[in-house]
Amino acid sequence: MKMSIVFSSLTGNTKKVAEEILQIMPKGTDIYDLKELDHGLEDELLVLGYWVDRANPNKEMVEFMETFKDKKIITFGTLGAYPDSDHANETKENTTNILEKNNEVLGNFLCQGKINPKITEMFMKGGEGKVHKMTPERLKRHQDAASHPNEEDFNNARNFVESILMNL
Ligand SMILES: Cc1cc2nc3c(=O)[nH]c(=O)nc-3n(C[C@H](O)[C@H](O)[C@H](O)COP(=O)(O)O)c2cc1C
Repeated sequence: MKMSIVFSSLTGNTKKVAEEILQIMPKGTDIYDLKELDHGLEDELLVLGYWVDRANPNKEMVEFMETFKDKKIITFGTLGAYPDSDHANETKENTTNILEKNNEVLGNFLCQGKINPKITEMFMKGGEGKVHKMTPERLKRHQDAASHPNEEDFNNARNFVESILMNL
């Protein structure tokens, strides 16, 4: 079965996870940065990586996801929040909803990814209204995210995708 990985990454976190997943993919699997992809994909199975924006894949990846029909799809993403949080679960649900009308979603993986310091700074300054206020919990989350994705995340991501492929 022909497979490709396509990722979208602003600051490199999701790209790193994509490159780790590639290590366990069958020989001949292609990997593309979405912003450089200039042709359609005939693959039967796609592994799609995104960074999380408001509990959804980033906009460019959502638009890309909406172009597919009759594919088997595994998704992975990186986010500032904890991967076992309600926010992460909501993100996975939203991602599945985008894809499952026309495709078969085989699984969704998320791990933390360091947050651009400019975003943390924006929160520290009070941001744009109440939703962007810095709280001790949020600061802790940003600090925790700073060391991710780490080796454990890479291992989890590789294992997650590998176990799905083994059961195909
Ligand atoms: C504009 C913007 C919005 C974000 N929104 C969220 C969010 O809603 N939830 C979250 O957990 N992380 C959010 N983040 C954090 C990123 O998803 C996270 O740092 C991710 O690892 C970035 O991946 P990348 O390095 O591949 O670009 C946001 C980051 C940016 C820049």
